[in-house]
Amino acid sequence: MTKKYSLTLLPGDGIGPEIMAVTVQVLNVIARQSDLQFDFEEALIGGSAIDATGNPLPQETIDYCQKSDAVLLAAIGGYKWDNLPREQRPETGLLGIREALGLFANLRPATILPQLIDASSLKREIVEGVDIMVVRELTGGIYFGKPKGIFEGETGEKRGVNTMVYSESEIDRIAKVAFEIAQKRQSRLCSVDKANVLDVSQLWRDQVVKMSKNYTDVELSHLYVDNAAMQLVRSPKQFDTIVTGNLFGDILSDAAAMLTGSIGMLPSASLGATGLGLFEPVHGSAPDITGQDKANPLAQVLSAAMMLRYGLNEPTAATKIEEAVMKVLDLGYRTGDIMSEGCQLVGCQAMGDTLLKVLDN
Ligand code: NAD
Ligand code: IPM
Ligand code: MN
Repeated sequence: MTKKYSLTLLPGDGIGPEIMAVTVQVLNVIARQSDLQFDFEEALIGGSAIDATGNPLPQETIDYCQKSDAVLLAAIGGYKWDNLPREQRPETGLLGIREALGLFANLRPATILPQLIDASSLKREIVEGVDIMVVRELTGGIYFGKPKGIFEGETGEKRGVNTMVYSESEIDRIAKVAFEIAQKRQSRLCSVDKANVLDVSQLWRDQVVKMSKNYTDVELSHLYVDNAAMQLVRSPKQFDTIVTGNLFGDILSDAAAMLTGSIGMLPSASLGATGLGLFEPVHGSAPDITGQDKANPLAQVLSAAMMLRYGLNEPTAATKIEEAVMKVLDLGYRTGDIMSEGCQLVGCQAMGDTLLKVLDN
């Protein structure tokens, strides 16, 4: 019997609609081949929502997401909206949907594919075999802590304030997710913090250590974030699973992305307690290449695979997508960001067409 899923699509801004279009084509082929039915509902978020409604996250968008089985997001943001007040910025819409859906765990896998080793800025022997999962806390920390804002004191001087705060329960729930993921991988978990300086990090470390008593099969280590950034580029193969807070995870996952050749390859899954997940590339709206058919759609396509695997429990369909991606890379097709010698340079849509051909064979 055909299984039906309702999916909310949030194409957003910049290259978002370009990479989403390719991904929907891929999902349609997968549906046909796997006896699945996807009912797509497109909704507004980010700059495009601001232009249409004045609000980067209209209530209608939240409602659509809450009624669906999974949410697929592309990217938000762009120069046009960079000078708006904070509450009207595209980024506020993205943070808002993560908060509204309770998506506290962001899984960002950085795996080097053998075909792309030469696209990495690091040497082959450093990156060959890299397979890291960054588990980033997504609805707390300095992104959401209060007080926040720009305040004018009595002297008239302004102070910009954000607050990095984590409660015990927030740390426990992300640590639990990370330990369980590590168990399914190589059972090594590195918790990244700044406990040598920050009280919030000391609590983070204490709680992660407490939680580790429930996971004695997982080897736990700790690194300060500055050292972790250095170790990621020095010797990335030492890492299996990394767990860290919102801000450190944002930064470290972009760095991890570059090990794999391009941020245009990295998908992510944002999960919460309800089972409803949001799936999005790690990269942004890439305004510098928007509208030029240059975007790499593979991070978005692989985010759809993560949606099938982690959101809809359709691992066979997920594997089909991942294998198709491997195949187009084997055939030598590359967008500009992952281009290397002897390969065939293609645009976003042509990369999509090639994926469809591979899936149909
Ligand atoms: P970015 O990730 O958009 O771009 C960084 C660089 O990577 C650019 O040179 C871009 O061309 C390149 N790049 C990114 N994705 C690519 C792809 N799929 N194919 C080929 N090249 C790709 O980061 P930025 O420039 O710092 O931010 C641009 C806008 O995106 C900002 O408004 C920012 O707030 C927003 N942003 C959104 C998200 C999101 O929606 N999840 C994430 C990060 C940044
Ligand atoms: C990301 C982005 C977002 C973040 C921004 C656009 C709000 O950089 O998804 O990594 O900082 O979380
Ligand atoms: Mn980021």
